[in-house]
Amino acid sequence: MPRHVAVVMDGNGRWAQNRGLARTEGHAAGEEALVDAAYGALAAGIEVLTVYAFSTENWRRPVDEVRYLMGFNESLLKRRRDELNAEGVKITFSGRRDWRVPRRVLKNMDEAAELTKNNKVMTLNMAFNYGGRAEIVDAVKKLVEDKVPAHKIDEKAIRSRLYHPEFPDPDLMVRTSGEFRISNYLLWEIAYSELVFTDVLWPDFRREHLYEAVREYQNRERRFGGVEQ
Ligand code: IPE
Ligand code: IPE
Ligand code: MG
Repeated sequence: MPRHVAVVMDGNGRWAQNRGLARTEGHAAGEEALVDAAYGALAAGIEVLTVYAFSTENWRRPVDEVRYLMGFNESLLKRRRDELNAEGVKITFSGRRDWRVPRRVLKNMDEAAELTKNNKVMTLNMAFNYGGRAEIVDAVKKLVEDKVPAHKIDEKAIRSRLYHPEFPDPDLMVRTSGEFRISNYLLWEIAYSELVFTDVLWPDFRREHLYEAVREYQNRERRFGGVEQ
């Protein structure tokens, strides 16, 4: 069983367009997929599920869609935090808390994290205003702030300054909607992740699709640069 699974929840816009709906309806329909995938991961014994909810590049979208996504993520947290808490899910976040994220969204994120901080069954880590390059830039800034001399900079020094050094690297990364790219997701952490791509659009994704991806992962041979002995 993978300990950490990372998911790029993609295809909401196309799901909505296929139905003659506004793109935002696709985001709304993605909530059910997220909740089912999270409980599916919990039932399977996955320790960490990291989901890509908003990228540092998604600010390029039309202002109405950005505004919708901010409000949607905030209300999703408010609606779901109690049931997730009751199931023993710890909610964490990866991403930048910059001025573009409305203060009440940050407040809700903090409340959800605080409420669930002692939970141990599974961690649902939301990558929100997250970029892999931004995460590495932020780690480098911390190295400088910590006055780490050049000869002391190694992978451990960088890793320990990423957003969540306590998580194991993702064993498996799943991307929905038939796109074969990384889109600035977890660049450091996915160095040796197994990648699984599925054509399913995110709002149609359910735990069975997660389990299919896990089975594919279980058939892969991981080598980490070594050879079979
Ligand atoms: C993923 O769905 C959700 C976010 C990026 C927030 P998209 O909105 O990217 O959907 P497509 O890729 O346009 O279909
Ligand atoms: C990645 O999907 C970001 C999220 C799922 C939040 P995008 O839809 O933004 O990625 P691109 O633009 O197709 O690469
Ligand atoms: Mg997309």
